[in-house]
Amino acid sequence: MENERLVQTLEQRIAPHIDTWFPEQPHSGLEVRVFADRPSCVLLTVHLDGAEGPVALAKARRDSPGGPGAGSRPRLRREKATAEELTLLEWAGLTTIQETCGDVAGVGVVRPLLLMPEAATLVMSFVNAPTLRSSVLELSRLRPGRSGPGVAVTGCGLAGTWLRHFQERAPVSDRPIQQGTRDDVVERLRAYGAYLDSPKWDVLVTEGVKLATEVLPRELRLAAGHGDFAPRNMLMGDDRLTVIDPLPRWRVPVYDDLCRFLVGLRLIGEQVHTHGLAFSSTTLDPLEEAAIASYLPPEADRAGLRAYQLLILMDKWTAMIDGPRQGVSGRLTRRSAALADHLVRGEAERLLGLARAGA
Ligand SMILES: Nc1ncnc2c1ncn2[C@@H]1O[C@H](COP(=O)(O)OP(=O)(O)OP(=O)(O)O)[C@@H](O)[C@H]1O
Ligand SMILES: [Mg+2]
Repeated sequence: MENERLVQTLEQRIAPHIDTWFPEQPHSGLEVRVFADRPSCVLLTVHLDGAEGPVALAKARRDSPGGPGAGSRPRLRREKATAEELTLLEWAGLTTIQETCGDVAGVGVVRPLLLMPEAATLVMSFVNAPTLRSSVLELSRLRPGRSGPGVAVTGCGLAGTWLRHFQERAPVSDRPIQQGTRDDVVERLRAYGAYLDSPKWDVLVTEGVKLATEVLPRELRLAAGHGDFAPRNMLMGDDRLTVIDPLPRWRVPVYDDLCRFLVGLRLIGEQVHTHGLAFSSTTLDPLEEAAIASYLPPEADRAGLRAYQLLILMDKWTAMIDGPRQGVSGRLTRRSAALADHLVRGEAERLLGLARAGA
């Protein structure tokens, strides 16, 4: 649907609900504005006359022509779904989040308000806060006037707390399983190693396979997955973390979402582009520790987590270098990509070292 018609349709569909959705908010009319127009979706904000910021946000997805299937890298998931399917999944995810995390201290929730499957569109309440990713970026050495780590550390801790509650409480689903066994993990580690195809990665993969074989159980413990548990999908303001953009398509090993979050912190674009100049381990380690410590009990063995983190690291890195114009590879020269590869291998070594040390 073209944007002008989308705006009109939304204004008509939303108007009858405003008093029920926002009973405290006196208003004389509403306006819908395009806030971002991306290849995969249009985001629109809903404004009430007399209210300061937006009160709601609409997300209208588009079917992507080629889809994310381009490139030849190995994958952990079959990604393809229609815009309508993704909208229904996000709606289901927002509903589950509201039911499971609504009462957790320090956690906020987005209210799913209106579902329009025929237009692959949903409307949800608006949260006026920056993403956790932007709080992390504030800590970059390359940004003048760096702020203290407080907000980012609190946010990472709340991300771990959020995930623990979500996994404990989200109903067992009959969604398809991804990487349900140790053999699946080992097979994918080898596949990523073959794709990266370098003697240095071969050494790391051999050690990773050995670790996974030793520490992972034959059948992995599964949980409902958020699907895209990354700092850019979390809003952090007033010491409160709100997780958005769920895509609960699969049942995944319990560590899957946490590892996506941890790898998202380490491979944040600014860090990869600068080959590690932006963030020192002194900055990143406490963020990682805050997330893990609020997710796992203190006595828990972390070796299994580290083995799975290595898998997610390789998944994310290959996604970044896959395809000629996608991700960093289109913007990085070959030499720069090689330097970034060094950074990522350093991270893989760190994970293997932590597993050996039981940390
Ligand atoms: N309920 C909300 N309240 C306030 N801002 C929101 C809300 N939902 C989304 N946003 C803003 O819009 C941005 C994109 O939203 P979302 O993550 O849902 O879309 P996306 O296209 O899946 O993005 P990406 O692929 O980058 O994760 C978020 O980073 C956030 O800044
Ligand atoms: Mg998102």
